[in-house]
This record gives sequence, C-alpha cells and structure tokens, in this order.
Amino acid sequence: MRNINLVLMLLCTTLPVALSLIDGLVPNGDFEEGPKPSQMNGSEVVDPHSIPHWELSGFVEYIKSGQTQGDMILPVPKGHFALRLGNEASIKTKLQVAKGQFYSLSFGIARTCAQQERLNLSITPDIEGKGWGMLPMQTMYSTEGWDSFSWGFFAANNEVELVFYHPQAEEDEACGPIIDVVALKSLSLPKTTTDLLKNGNFEEGPYIFPDTNWGTLVPSNIENDHSPLMGWMVESLKAVRYIDSDHFVVPEGKRAVELVAGRESVIAQIVKTVPGKTYDLEFYVGDAKNLCEGSMLIEVFASNSTFYVPYESKAQGGSKLVLLRFKAANDRTRIRFLSSYYHRKSDFSGSLCGPVVDDVKLVSSILHA
Ligand SMILES: *[C@@H]1O[C@H](CO)[C@@H](O)[C@H](O)[C@H]1NC(C)=O
Ligand SMILES: *[C@@H]1O[C@H](CO)[C@@H](O)[C@H](O)[C@H]1NC(C)=O
Ligand SMILES: *[C@@H]1O[C@H](CO)[C@@H](O)[C@H](O)[C@H]1NC(C)=O
Repeated sequence: MRNINLVLMLLCTTLPVALSLIDGLVPNGDFEEGPKPSQMNGSEVVDPHSIPHWELSGFVEYIKSGQTQGDMILPVPKGHFALRLGNEASIKTKLQVAKGQFYSLSFGIARTCAQQERLNLSITPDIEGKGWGMLPMQTMYSTEGWDSFSWGFFAANNEVELVFYHPQAEEDEACGPIIDVVALKSLSLPKTTTDLLKNGNFEEGPYIFPDTNWGTLVPSNIENDHSPLMGWMVESLKAVRYIDSDHFVVPEGKRAVELVAGRESVIAQIVKTVPGKTYDLEFYVGDAKNLCEGSMLIEVFASNSTFYVPYESKAQGGSKLVLLRFKAANDRTRIRFLSSYYHRKSDFSGSLCGPVVDDVKLVSSILHA
C-alpha cells in the first residue's frame, strides 16, 4: 500500500488533479505532531491551536500509546498518539478536495467506557447530502477494541470542513471516544460496464488502513446518505464491514463485504429492470477466514422473490458460487442481501462476524431473451 501511495504521489506531480488522486492520511491525520508540554495540563490540551492542522474545542486529551487510566491501558496503537474527546468536545480540520468529486473518509476510533457513545461527524459543504451523521459506538466490532469507520461525501467545494463532535455529557469526564488516523480516498465508478449492477465486485470502496486487520465499517444509510461503498446502500441499523484480501480471504479481487450484524446489516442496490423479464443474479458467498465458523444463511430479496442460501463456514476462507433467477415486477428492482443469523468469532472476544458476499453480477436471462 505504501508503494502504491508513493507511485500515486510521483504521478501527481505531473497531473493537474493531483489532490484528488492521493489516497491516505489527511495532514497530521495521525496526530503524531502534537502540542508542546507548555500547551498541556496533564493529558488535557489547553491551547486549541496546538495540534498542527486541527482546531480543538472543549476537553480534549492528547494520549500516547501505553497510557493508562485506572488499571486500563488506553487502546492507542503502538507508537502512536491519539485524541480523546471529552463531553461536548470537538476537533476540526479543513480538507483540500476537488469540487464535484466523491470521497470517502476513514478513521480509527475506540470507545473507552461501557456507556453508549455517539459521535457526530460532519463534512460540509456536501452536495445533496445533509453533511453530518451520528455514528453509534455502542457495538464495537473488532477484537482489538479499535475500529475503523468510513463516511462518504460529495464535495461541494474545493475545501470542506471536517468536524468530529462528541455530544454526550457523561458522568465520567474521562469517558469519550479516542480518535486516530484520519484518511481520505477519492472514489468513482467505472463509466462503461456491461453489468446491470454497479460495483458488484465491491472493488470501489472506502480506504482501508494497510496496517490494520479489521477492515473498515460502512455505516448505515440512516447516518450517511452518501454510501462510500459505491453503488450500494447499507440499508440497516448497523454497519457492514468492508474487508481486503491483504488481511482476509475474499472470494474475488481485493475487496468484499462481510455482513457482520445478522439481520441488522443489509446491503442493497436498486437496478433498472424490464417488468416481466427474467434475470440471473450470480454472486459468491463465503467466509473471510477470520474465526467465523458455523451454519450461515444468506437471504436475498429481488423483486417478489426471496431466496435462502445456506453456507457452511469452516472459517477456512471457503466460498461458493450462487445463481438465482427471478422475474422483475417493476422497472426498478431492489436487490438486498442479509445474514439470517448473528455470528461471533470463536476467540471468545465477542466480536461480531458473518458471511462474506462478493462479485455480484446481474444479467438478463438468456432463457427469456
Ligand atoms: C490543570 O488541571 C487541574 C485539574 O483539572 C486544575 O485544577 C488546574 O487548575 C489546571 N491548571 C492550569 C494551569 O490550568
Ligand atoms: C451534528 O453536527 C452538525 C454540524 O456540526 C450539526 O449541524 C448537527 O445539528 C449536529 N447534530 C446533532 C444531532 O447534534
Ligand atoms: C409481484 O407482487 C405484486 C404484489 O404483491 C403483484 O401484483 C405482481 O403481480 C407480482 N409480480 C410478479 C412478476 O410476480
């Protein structure tokens, strides 16, 4: 991944659209440039302008990996610094982007107390989007206590403002999410494709941090009206996990989607269809080789048809090709995938996991051509 970034940056020096081509950390997106000791009181950052490229408000702490709170080690990746947002605290930065371009933001987050925590993320101005959403931190999905979330936005300007705001008033002032590594990726859909579905192989999606093995969560469309999973919507209360072949087994290409929260993680896409015509829907179902074992069942909804596809996961990274045939009832058909059951990793971490869906293809059936 580092090499790819380097190649892109070299290319960028000769291209006019340089900024939108670089995928990776935003300036000081890992907070490694921090405040001077004189700008702090204990771990609290006193000077709101002491972290380069960021502006702080309220009770924000600058935390080093290995730092403890009571008898708990705060979950900051090794050799790193991170920021913790106290009650009603916020951090903001300006991002240089290309107007009219679609982007996804990815960031690492950990919650530190048992309480339900929420984070208000906003990126404005956003074309045709409300520009903000409340991300629920109650269900953490990874084993490490650290997760990556993503967020899609459609830049309405060459500069947008990103704000992370922790709205809660907790009893314990030291509760509140820890944020680290903020990265940006520009996204686009291939213009020409013979398939009726867009991005059926899920290759075009949010940035995944190359040194993490928990992928990136794609939030519900209730929160993020511009899905960073191009072409698809997360039509459920909970997120889906976007995974990469560097850290997981995926059935096809480099990326796939793991349905991590049972019936509460749904991906969907609306496609143009001809009423009365028969269509073939083809896809892979598998497991990511991530300790997610057991009898799985995928439910697929297309037009008036519901299909149940069983998959027996041995957590070895297996997969199978599925072919379904349905008749379109309308000129628009919603195709939806969900996992019937909830699954947890067999490492007793309690982390949610589930079946993987990949390489979804839709063609009009030759049967009734
Ligand atoms: C540092 O924080 C402590 C505890 O919150 C507070 O009592 C003290 O006044 C602060 N010191 C300065 C210089 O702001
Ligand atoms: C979240 O933040 C945005 C922008 O900062 C604000 O407009 C919105 O009202 C906030 N939402 C809630 C529920 O606090
Ligand atoms: C689909 O369902 C609707 C309403 O339930 C029905 O009117 C229609 O005939 C069905 N279409 C097909 C193609 O089965």
